[in-house]
Amino acid sequence: MLKIAPSVLSADFACLGKEIEDIKRAGADFVHFDVMDGMFVPNISVGIPVLKSLRRATDMFLDVHLMIARPRRYAKQFCAAGADLVNFHVEADEEEGILEALNIVKSLGKMAGVTIKPKTPAQALRPFLPYVDLALVMTVEPGFGGQRFLHEQLPKIEAVRKMIEAEKPGCMLEVDGGIDGETAALVKAAGADVLVAGSAVFGKPDRAAAIEALRRA
Ligand code: DX5
Ligand code: ZN
Repeated sequence: MLKIAPSVLSADFACLGKEIEDIKRAGADFVHFDVMDGMFVPNISVGIPVLKSLRRATDMFLDVHLMIARPRRYAKQFCAAGADLVNFHVEADEEEGILEALNIVKSLGKMAGVTIKPKTPAQALRPFLPYVDLALVMTVEPGFGGQRFLHEQLPKIEAVRKMIEAEKPGCMLEVDGGIDGETAALVKAAGADVLVAGSAVFGKPDRAAAIEALRRA
């Protein structure tokens, strides 16, 4: 079954605890926590102290998407702050730096993931696949919620699905950006099994209906 991971970027940060309770009640599987540093992407969001507070407030699975330069520097801190899974962009460092980051996360007993931006080919995931629990394909340029889904990413999702089946069965395939009732069906058909959705969940008054609509896609 499809897993739904609402992105906190579209939540009301003034009452984040309540927002998370609400999506838990509504049937969300993961909380997708977007971290931006104003360097790797042209926006700044939230970081370690907010994750720590969230960890105290919920037992939900915290899926941390690091959109920061040279993320290895902070891998340990995000694990200590309560991440269940830490996700690194392959574009954010040299291969060796990303491998080290994955190793830190795994050695701390957490799940690890790698992410590719829209212009990065599927092949860029290959060196990391043996070490990860999840691969994330971005379907918008990272940095902002509420953007339009990039349809040209669909063949890449299919290619990553094939790669996973051949080389790392059981690895989750997550898609992030512009997911709504319509695009959810397209990425599911292409092989995605975890859907991140910001505006399509937090932007709706009835979150349970919004999550159900995505899951039924
Ligand atoms: C974008 C973030 C996404 C974003 C998704 O850089 O990684 O997780 O919040 O928002 P929607 O679903 O509104 O495109
Ligand atoms: Zn994200």
